Amino acid sequence: MTARVLVTGGAGYIGSVVVDQLLARGCRVVVLDDLSTGHREAVAEGATFVHGGIGDRGAVESLLAREPVDAIVHLAAFALVAESVADPEKYRTNNVAAARVLLDAVVGAGVRRFVFSSSCAVYGHPQRTPIAEDAPLAPVNPYGETKLEFERVLSAGAARSGVAAVSLRYFNAAGATERRGEDHAPETHLIPNVLAVALGLRPSVDVFGADYATPDGTAVRDYIHVDDLADAHVRALDVPVDGTGALALNLGTGSGHSVRQVVAAARRVTGHPIPAADRPRRPGDPPELVAAVHRAAGVLGWRPRRSSLEEILASAWRWHQAHPRGYRS
Ligand SMILES: NC(=O)c1ccc[n+]([C@@H]2O[C@H](COP(=O)([O-])OP(=O)(O)OC[C@H]3O[C@@H](n4cnc5c(N)ncnc54)[C@H](O)[C@@H]3O)[C@@H](O)[C@H]2O)c1
Repeated sequence: MTARVLVTGGAGYIGSVVVDQLLARGCRVVVLDDLSTGHREAVAEGATFVHGGIGDRGAVESLLAREPVDAIVHLAAFALVAESVADPEKYRTNNVAAARVLLDAVVGAGVRRFVFSSSCAVYGHPQRTPIAEDAPLAPVNPYGETKLEFERVLSAGAARSGVAAVSLRYFNAAGATERRGEDHAPETHLIPNVLAVALGLRPSVDVFGADYATPDGTAVRDYIHVDDLADAHVRALDVPVDGTGALALNLGTGSGHSVRQVVAAARRVTGHPIPAADRPRRPGDPPELVAAVHRAAGVLGWRPRRSSLEEILASAWRWHQAHPRGYRS
């Protein structure tokens, strides 16, 4: 088991759960986060927290000199599709240029393994679903472009340096653990927005596109529980990788749910009527994104355990009821 791990973005939604699982397995964990979208309260007490940016080479180098690590899990990034369209440079600067500085610094410090948070956004509009890792890579927004570009930077860096690199392409992260949940501002993800209606914080939920060629006309996505995602990261730290490039693995369940199915399940879980209003499609939203998951299952010995829609919604509902205003409450 990898003993000492640097987690960038460990104060964020997914990173905070990765940190919890690493600590539970006895790892020493250092979190590097600038709190641009994360929360100090989300970082477990057992981790060493360093407030700083991944693009500050001097700061990363002195951190690694003080706290040597065997591996890095790199989650820190900006992740709002619409914002990336409005300000692509902001995304290139953080998600590619700063990440490149981080990669050089960790390779220079002798870190031997790099696990990267990529996204199904690298596939753009898939020609076929479920989407396999060798499907064409054709992102349709700057966010997806930055994820793909850093995958390529990482692959080249791994081939040069022999670092074992894994790019984990998450589908839709969702759900909560007892202590950690989703607290983004603005919140663009469906499930927290649906639950905000049940909490009385929003009047209704917007259904973007009701005329897709899907069974009920609404967009279909592959929702994966954040605890299952975190489990895959822990496993990715130990799988043999040959150092000739970055290994890409999809993380999803292999089945999808439509927006209407999510809203209907949320009504069952919360007992609230959750009014929904049909809106026009959002530009760049594919009708269906569902992962082919055989590669991750084979390589990681991993399968989702908490990712039924009911469990995702019930866990998120417990967290949002306890934290109606996120980590501030
Ligand atoms: N949430 C999803 O469904 C999803 C899907 C696919 C991929 N991802 C990827 O997973 C990662 C985590 O996503 P999340 O939903 O937890 O997002 P998040 O915004 O909750 O977490 C990102 C964290 O990174 C930190 N950060 C950002 N830029 C930084 C920098 N330059 N230096 C240091 N810290 C910085 C933020 O403060 C935050 O704590 C991201 O890379 C995202 O692109 C998320």
